[in-house]
Parts: sequence; structure tokens; C-alpha cells
Amino acid sequence: MRGLLTLHDLSQEKIKEIINYALKLKGGFSKKYEGKKMATLFFENSTRTQYSFQVAMLNLGIKVISFNASVSSVQKGETLYDTVRTFEALGLDGVVIRSSIDNYFKQLENIKMPIFNGGDGASNHPTQCLLDLMTIYEEFGHFEGLKVCMVGDISHSRVAHGNIEVMKRLGMECYISGPEEFNDGSAPHLEFEEAVKSCDIIMMLRCQFERHKEKMNLSEKEYFNLYGLDMNKVNMMKDKAIIMHPAPVNRNIEIADDVVECNKSRIYKQMTNGVYIRMAVISMVLDGDL
Ligand code: CP
Repeated sequence: MRGLLTLHDLSQEKIKEIINYALKLKGGFSKKYEGKKMATLFFENSTRTQYSFQVAMLNLGIKVISFNASVSSVQKGETLYDTVRTFEALGLDGVVIRSSIDNYFKQLENIKMPIFNGGDGASNHPTQCLLDLMTIYEEFGHFEGLKVCMVGDISHSRVAHGNIEVMKRLGMECYISGPEEFNDGSAPHLEFEEAVKSCDIIMMLRCQFERHKEKMNLSEKEYFNLYGLDMNKVNMMKDKAIIMHPAPVNRNIEIADDVVECNKSRIYKQMTNGVYIRMAVISMVLDGDL
């Protein structure tokens, strides 16, 4: 299949090539792909991924077609394969898909049009992972030896699962922290205060209430008191350490209101970098380099 579905099969060299290309695009770009048409097929809600893919397409000169599943033939029983096959038959040059179904792309093996994964279930979110890596690389200039801790709702997080696998391959030390009920053993566990004091990157994760089958054991207030990142904790961080969060954030549940845009936070920079990463990925796929 063409496009970008997971990062599992991408070499370290290719991952670094994408990041370097995104950094180059951040310095300037041209509308190189005028005449191309792409669509964003989102079957799960999104602000950042859907619209930064659309901005990336517009920056590259690609015409964007928005798709609204709630007024499409999906409501008449059209399958995912039939929706995507239809856009292929209409002559599109690629589609971005988000679905709550893990590995939904396995249903699409016969599709020849490029597919860009905008997130599947709790499994993959490859462009989020790449934009996180770009933000870390801009900050530190390397990956090897950096200590990162993902904090919070690990077990429901495609961001945590994707990042841990790739960050370990890039030589980073990965840890997880947060409530035992969300600990799925993806990485060694650190107590939250120890993580805050010792890590280069604290990556807070959203409590993904919409994916919880059962109510959280802790109240939101208890969660914030135990695992929320507030200014007292921020003041314990190392001088050069940074805070990341894929967003959307639950303010005053996993992260305090005044921490979201504090001087250690790179949350909005992550969003900006997402546009350049998506421009790089789309360009490389259309050029046959990915
Ligand atoms: N980080 C992220 O995937 O945000 P959205 O759900 O808004 O796309």
C-alpha cells in the first residue's frame, strides 16, 4: 500500500529524512503540486490532524475535499472500503483517514491511491509521532540519550504506543507514569515526581474519556492532584526540560491552565510543526520517496 500508515517499517534514516525535509519546508516552500486533489476522511473527531493536513495540502497547492461522514452514504451502510474505493474512482491523488478501528487500513489493501493515516484506534498516529520528534529535534538537536516520560492515559493512547516504539529505536530512554489502571507495561514505570525531576521531556497525555469502557477509578480532582502537571511540578523540572502534549488538552485534569502556555511548554509549537511534517510526508509520497 502507498502512503504512510505506521512508522513500524520506516528506518531511522527515513524518519530523520522526513524530519529534515519538514525543517527545510519550515524555512520556505512553493505550491509544487497544483492540479492534485486530496480528501480528508475523518470518522472520528479531530481539530489538529484534520485541519493541519488540509493546511499542508493548501500550502503545497493541492485542492482539498472535505468529507462529512454524517451526511455521506456511510449512513446508508457504505463500508470503509467502498467509501475509499469511491474516492479512488473519482480520481483523487490521496486521502487522509482517521478511524476508531485499530489497523483499519488492513481492509484497504486493494487500494492503489496513497493513504495517510490520521490515527487508528489506540494503535498508530504516525504524523503525530513525527511532529513530536521534529519538536524534540529542534529543541535538543539529537535524540540519543534523551529521557522522556509519557504521563497519564497510556493504555488508550495511540500517541504513547507509536512514540515509545520509535523513540526507543532512536536511542531515547522511554518511561511511563500515571495511574496503575492505565499502565499497560509499554515502558518502565516512574513515579510522577521522579519523572518530573529527572526527564528531558515530560509528555502529558489526554485522559481519553471517549475510549474508556468503564469510569475512571479516580475523580477528575483526584487525578489532577496526583498526576496533573501544575506550576509546582513545572518548577521541579530541569532547566532545559520541556513539556509536550498532543492536545486537545483537558485543562485542570491532566495539565493546569497556566502550564499550557508556560515557557517550558511546546504544545503550540507541536501544532505548527505538524503542518510542515504533513507537507513533508505528502510531498515525499507523491514524489515516490516514501
Ligand atoms: N493531536 C491530535 O491528534 O489532535 P486532534 O484529535 O484534534 O486531531
